[in-house]
Amino acid sequence: MSAPAADAPELPRAPAAPAPSEPAAESQRAVERVERFTDDDLHALCEATHAAIIDGGGFGWVNPPGHRALESYYRGVLLVPERALFLARLNGTVVGAAQLVRPPRNNEAQAFAATLMHSFVAPYARGHGLARLLTGHVEESARALGYQVLNLDVRETQAVALRLYESMGFVRWGVHPAYARVGGKTVRGYYYYKLLQVPARRRAEAADAAGEAGA
Ligand SMILES: CC(C)(COP(=O)(O)OP(=O)(O)OC[C@H]1O[C@@H](n2cnc3c(N)ncnc32)[C@H](O)[C@@H]1OP(=O)(O)O)[C@@H](O)C(=O)NCCC(=O)NCCS
Repeated sequence: MSAPAADAPELPRAPAAPAPSEPAAESQRAVERVERFTDDDLHALCEATHAAIIDGGGFGWVNPPGHRALESYYRGVLLVPERALFLARLNGTVVGAAQLVRPPRNNEAQAFAATLMHSFVAPYARGHGLARLLTGHVEESARALGYQVLNLDVRETQAVALRLYESMGFVRWGVHPAYARVGGKTVRGYYYYKLLQVPARRRAEAADAAGEAGA
């Protein structure tokens, strides 16, 4: 598998891969990559973002910036070539999102690694397996593009997210002592990676090695 070239390939549209896990649920869940918004979807995405920020954030924002600012932000995300926006739906309504961020073209040394950022699910849609589904889709998309590593970082306070990522095979390799400032308090950040293109056995060895290095 070759690393993404300087002429990075187009991101695939809505990966058709099946969800990595499909726990039984009465509610209808879906994840897709979006390249254009309908008015309803953009409105619902801003509502979900606002609710998640109010609930405690954990994906960047601390204070809700207002609906118009959020709309501008998301329209801007769609214009950034290195970013792909994935939406999570519950019974058809957008309730969460995540971004796959590719390295800029000048960063040849890290051209093999993409980053999962700004992932969240609105409080009113949590516990349906959507974050697991969303993360799996972003990961599959990165893998399909030839990326060998998926990076992410999380505030130490986001306990559910930390458990989720660790259960999906992300390996914690570092702690940033001054990662974020929330409510006047400095919060640590945990840094994770996942090797995407290697057999499970080598992934386990790499995880062991990282564990030993950190011990
Ligand atoms: C982290 C977050 C995305 C999880 O969203 P979600 O859709 O509720 O997560 P899922 O339903 O996919 O559940 C993922 C796992 O966490 C567990 N979980 C979910 N909510 C939980 C809770 N409140 N307490 C304990 N475990 C919980 C689930 O049981 C599931 O584990 P399992 O698959 O082994 O059963 C959501 O809580 C959130 O947006 N938090 C704030 C923002 C954030 O932390 N973003 C991630 C870092 S950028």
